[in-house]
Amino acid sequence: MQLLTSTASLIGLGLVIFYVIVQRIRDYSRTKHIPGPFWAGWTDLWMIRGQLGGRMCFLLAETNEKYGPIAKIAPRWVVCGDGAELRRIWGVRSAWQRSPWYKGLRFDRNLDNAFSTLDDNAHEALRAKLMPGYGGKDVENLHEQIDKQVAGLVNLLETKYLSTKTKSKPVDLARKVQYFTLDVISALAFGTELGYLAADKDLHDYIHTTESTLPIMLATAFMPTLLATIQSPRLKWLIPDVRNMAGIGSVLGVAHDAVAKRFGDKALVKKDMLGSFVAHGLTKQEAEAETVVQIIAGSDTSATAIRSTLLFIMTNPLVYNRLQAEIDAGIKEGRISSPITDTEARNLPYLQAVIREGLRLWPPATAVLPKISTTDQVVCGVHIPAGTHVAWAPFSFLRNKDTFGEDADMFKPERWLDVDPAKYRAMDQTVMMEFASGSRWECLGKTVAQIELNKTYVELLRRFDFQLVDPTNPWKSYNAAVFIQSDMNVIITKREI
Ligand code: HEM
Repeated sequence: MQLLTSTASLIGLGLVIFYVIVQRIRDYSRTKHIPGPFWAGWTDLWMIRGQLGGRMCFLLAETNEKYGPIAKIAPRWVVCGDGAELRRIWGVRSAWQRSPWYKGLRFDRNLDNAFSTLDDNAHEALRAKLMPGYGGKDVENLHEQIDKQVAGLVNLLETKYLSTKTKSKPVDLARKVQYFTLDVISALAFGTELGYLAADKDLHDYIHTTESTLPIMLATAFMPTLLATIQSPRLKWLIPDVRNMAGIGSVLGVAHDAVAKRFGDKALVKKDMLGSFVAHGLTKQEAEAETVVQIIAGSDTSATAIRSTLLFIMTNPLVYNRLQAEIDAGIKEGRISSPITDTEARNLPYLQAVIREGLRLWPPATAVLPKISTTDQVVCGVHIPAGTHVAWAPFSFLRNKDTFGEDADMFKPERWLDVDPAKYRAMDQTVMMEFASGSRWECLGKTVAQIELNKTYVELLRRFDFQLVDPTNPWKSYNAAVFIQSDMNVIITKREI
């Protein structure tokens, strides 16, 4: 009997191996005309190793650089680095859909959210309920809420981390900026900030746990079978919820508590984002799923934009001086209030150039964001078989020399000034793709992110001077779809004005 069972198991295993080999040969022959690293043609491991290695976004850009704008990165995956083609693929009426990779962004095992909803109609219906909240239309004091958190950041730096001529007090600006973006998004999402800036520490161990969880979570997204197993309700009893295990549970808990108060007999009614979602018909479960998305999608991205742009400012003295001069002149001439308003910031040309150049040179949203078509397609003149995942490579199209000039690898805000309007539009359209603008999937938090960026640099640079402790080793930066950044040690001094 035992012999029979072992023989059956061996035959079963043999059949599985045979099936995988046949599939691999089939996939290879369907895409053998697409250039790419040799092993990427045969195994997903090349791509998964890249994801776990912490420099996936750079690896994709290097692959485009070496093999061209369409390159193979796994048997059924290609990466596209061409901005115009990506705009077409992502476009509103294109034949492309989100690929099953997005299921990996289902932070709550039980329910889809805006990111993990693949079906176009369901996604559109969900967006319609979310948009009034995210866009700020339904949110009382959106700008004031952000002002309050900017003031919190200024206060933290001013009271605890100022250096003087005689005493240096290095501070990890990467962490403080993340406290700021977490407080902004929680204040908007729940009506009350989580309190990172006031506590000046990683409350709930959230930053630590997401930093250790996200790389694994995003690597799992490349393995649809494993993902389906983890997320299957039938196997719930068998397989532990990795999201809880790895610590995302603490975030779910905070989100669920906030949502619970908005439902039931004594439901709290508030004019904040959550209140807007509830008013537009989100169920309790849907609201829970969405609040987690807000915190994850809305904190790391904005934090990376602020950190990297500040790094570029600090390491480019000409830019630093010019931006500070624009701010000082605006204050002197009464064009900048305290705090600066969003409209005032939009009228500062050099600030706007710095913001765009920062997003361009160090795009914060770097996950592969693959799209898939059920029919054969042509991209960059290359035949793409149905069912192929087409990833994007922001570090390719945002540093394209045809769009941005021969010095596209340089941080040079001047490229946005005194430029032909058609050229400006082309550059702007390309940079705004970083928010998926012009697509069905445009970032719902774009308005919030832009207000944050418009206010933060001005409010910091009008009061303080920033200097990197070690310009040769400015930060630790790990790419896991979003950037995980720390140890950006700076010396902050009060400006004498
Ligand atoms: C500089 C900062 C940010 C960048 C570069 C950025 C980028 C993006 C991108 C590229 C997408 C499209 C993903 C896809 O469908 O493939 C997206 C979607 C999304 N973003 Fe952002 N984001 C930023 C900040 C924020 C903030 C602050 C929030 C929350 C307030 C937010 C909330 C969302 C949500 C909810 C979606 C899903 C939209 C949908 O599926 O319809 N983002 N973002």
